[in-house]
Amino acid sequence: MTEEEIKDRYKKVCICRSVSKGTIKQAIKDGAKNVADVRRRTGATSGACKGSRCTATINDIIKEVIGN
Ligand code: FES
Repeated sequence: MTEEEIKDRYKKVCICRSVSKGTIKQAIKDGAKNVADVRRRTGATSGACKGSRCTATINDIIKEVIGN
């Protein structure tokens, strides 16, 4: 496991649902192409704040992984 993978495992992106950056990256690698796909696969954005704190970060991660 790389240092980046370890950091991603502990970095919580969706605080409400306790979803890590690593989990979100894996969902994208498994085929998630947008925030709705990530929500279905991980539960991120479906917490008490309804995604107001995490949606922008998830979009950034999608761009980072897919590269557009
Ligand atoms: S931080 Fe993700 S739903 Fe609230």
